[in-house]
Amino acid sequence: MRRGQIPASIWRWPDGPCRGSCWRADHIGWRWRCGSYVVVQKYLHDLDAWSKVPTPRQEEIVGRTKIDNVELDDDDWPRKSHKTLAIIVDADGNEHDILRDNMPFERPGQREFGTYFIGYSRRLWMIAKMLERMYVGDPPGAYGRRLDFSTPHTGVTFFAPSRPTLEMLVQAAQKKLAAT
Ligand code: HEM
Repeated sequence: MRRGQIPASIWRWPDGPCRGSCWRADHIGWRWRCGSYVVVQKYLHDLDAWSKVPTPRQEEIVGRTKIDNVELDDDDWPRKSHKTLAIIVDADGNEHDILRDNMPFERPGQREFGTYFIGYSRRLWMIAKMLERMYVGDPPGAYGRRLDFSTPHTGVTFFAPSRPTLEMLVQAAQKKLAAT
């Protein structure tokens, strides 16, 4: 394995500032208020191919500079960057963020390098929209070039109830148990 091939974050990018706080599900009734959807996808990367891509081109694909993580304006580029495809704006012009907590992993013996994408949002449609923009492309066909280097293998969506909801469920179960 070449030097520098196992990054802290597998793509060797710093964590960006865009970790939104809008992650509590609040549209599905008070009982589930403050819970969050959690979307997890396992990606495997072709790091040999990625490491051959010159840094300016990598930055174009991601939409941020590599060393200092400065956002790049890709309005004039032929293809939208990962960053731009991940920007979701609603009908009123409001931009919506998700909370991301990606987890890089590796099995060097098997030459397996990957990332678990882990995204939290109270609005599942937002992550679905991001995925649609990345996979179908905007315009359709102009998919995110990140996908030329990373392949999704598994994916799952959870709903994580809030701590008060879980406590309430435990208390209700304990009460029931005590009464029997
Ligand atoms: C192999 C999987 C992925 C890799 C390696 C990856 C990598 C990156 C990198 C390097 C950045 C820029 C640095 C940062 O802001 O943290 C970024 C930003 C981002 N990614 Fe991903 N990403 C992956 C999958 C996804 C998926 C599946 C989604 C959404 C469904 C997503 C949503 C975002 C968002 C919202 C941003 C912030 C964009 C902004 O700058 O406003 N990413 N990602």
